[in-house]
Amino acid sequence: MCGIIGYIGKQQATPILIEGLRRLEYRGYDSAGVAVLQNRELATRKKKGKIDEGLAKLVQANPIYGQVGMGHTRWATHGPPTDENSHPHLDQSGKLAVVHNGVIENFDSLKERFLEEGHTFKSATDTEVLAHLIGHHYDELMKSGKGNWTGEGTHPLAQAVMNALREVIGTYGIGVICTDHPGVMVGARRGSPLIVGVGEGEHFLASDASAIVSHTRTVIYLKDYDVVTLFPDKFKMDSLGSEVASFQLSKIEFDADAAERGKFAHYMLKEIFEQPKTVQNAIRGRLDAEDGTAKFGGLNMTTAELRAIDQIVITACGTSWHAALVGEYLIEEFAHIPVEVEYASEFRYRNAPIEKNTLVLVITQSGETADTLAGLRESKRRGHRVLSICNVVGSTIAREADGGIYLHAGPEIGVASTKAFVSQVSVLTMFALMMGRIRMLSNRRGSQIIKALEAIPDQIQKILDQSEEIKRIALKYAHAEDFFFLGRQYNFPVALEGALKLKEISYIHAEGYPAAEMKHGPIAMIDEKTPTVILAPTDALYEKTFSNLEEIKARKGPIIALATEGNDRIKEKVEDVIYLPATWEPLHPLLAVIPLQLLSYYIAVARGCDVDKPRNLAKSVTVE
Ligand code: G6P
Repeated sequence: MCGIIGYIGKQQATPILIEGLRRLEYRGYDSAGVAVLQNRELATRKKKGKIDEGLAKLVQANPIYGQVGMGHTRWATHGPPTDENSHPHLDQSGKLAVVHNGVIENFDSLKERFLEEGHTFKSATDTEVLAHLIGHHYDELMKSGKGNWTGEGTHPLAQAVMNALREVIGTYGIGVICTDHPGVMVGARRGSPLIVGVGEGEHFLASDASAIVSHTRTVIYLKDYDVVTLFPDKFKMDSLGSEVASFQLSKIEFDADAAERGKFAHYMLKEIFEQPKTVQNAIRGRLDAEDGTAKFGGLNMTTAELRAIDQIVITACGTSWHAALVGEYLIEEFAHIPVEVEYASEFRYRNAPIEKNTLVLVITQSGETADTLAGLRESKRRGHRVLSICNVVGSTIAREADGGIYLHAGPEIGVASTKAFVSQVSVLTMFALMMGRIRMLSNRRGSQIIKALEAIPDQIQKILDQSEEIKRIALKYAHAEDFFFLGRQYNFPVALEGALKLKEISYIHAEGYPAAEMKHGPIAMIDEKTPTVILAPTDALYEKTFSNLEEIKARKGPIIALATEGNDRIKEKVEDVIYLPATWEPLHPLLAVIPLQLLSYYIAVARGCDVDKPRNLAKSVTVE
């Protein structure tokens, strides 16, 4: 949520900032801006709207030159998306610029204080107040004669930032530059992600690795309360939390090309088509055919500790929460351990009694979702063991969890999550298998699950090969105003996910329901203009699901059925059928979600929606 990029070195900063912002745009795209130190002056350009339509054109028409600068792409929290509310924001003197990701909760009282002192504000943002606060502390330092830097200790700009942040309640990842110090940039973090890229004679500040991976692979993931002072050829780490600041250099693993769209019209389509590969990446090296189980390297738990678990709580948001629901069915089925799935935003504030031997699983693609992170911290505070299922290596949640499992799905750029969901469910399947094999699942059963899982990548490919047919169906229903998605058991979370995908990118009202619940209310909405997608694999409950299908048919609702190959009977009953290869019932979500992703994608494209950057959304939600 909001993307930050900063550069200090020998190259021209502006092109690096614009390119970095393009890569960060998935974090927010209401407006964007840059500030560059040009001839010891702050030159800023800010524009409402997406980068290529706004800021990039502005910078092209009115270029700025300088080797130190910061950029920001915004997802509005305080104040609507306007040019004025775009970052960077300046302090009262106009000498100091700030970019910020997060929320300053006490900005109102701080603003009042500065208004009384005669400050003027140009925007409605909390960030501008933060800029004034840092400027104020910087002035105080200068007045007290402590503003001269001898080259040792903490730089005065960093000191001013630290003094200001001690007054702040809220979350931040920030970048700060000042005309008095053209060779310095300060970064600080609490609650919002920020990394330092270490180059040769240059440094970068960024919200995530994708923004800088084409320049350097050596990074430092800042921890909460870290304050870093960047110079072109060195950096200094301070901490607001402790006397001694520590840091660790890490290597970015993923390939810059992995974050490219390639031949695909949208990132979302590329990511949908990557799924045979991403499932392979998730399961590679983790299946043990001989023992009929799965193995993970990073759980940091012994078999005895895993065996002692009596309950599992899974917490997550959005699509990851839907994966968690599939996980609940899988773990209860394979391992007979009771599972509770909680929205992270509710879980963190609820005083839910949790048994002593409870394992908490947090599921997150980004590893930065604020509510999920808060759920993790609350669980740890209560003394529970927390494992993360996460995609982004080195993300805050991956680092703060006691152990975890990476998805290895590569960067997911499309705001609507696709491949992460399938990888999360693949990992949950293996986790459930492992937990089952520690308890009551037989080796034979374990081997069957492994076989079924290994077949999934090819089966997904088979569904992707039907994309033209799915597109044809999508075009037929692209004008609909309401949509229903129905499924039973394992397919119920998939119905929720199908509805969410459609809502997110096409703005069609869509709801997912357990198929049998339809008759308890939503069926009142059914008419000839309201299509229903019904997940009807040939499984133990097929006949029951078929009855639900009949109920909709009787009310003239058009039906798109997802059925198992070979089910010819269903064709006569419904308007459209998408056939899926047969798999073992618990693995069906891994296949069923694919046509739903494609359906949403083609409908959104047909309606002229911006698929990769749907309105009002952001990929990484780092505010509560
Ligand atoms: C946002 C995204 C969703 C995502 C959710 C959770 O709302 O738009 O696609 O599912 O956050 O994100 P996470 O990174 O924690 O999985």
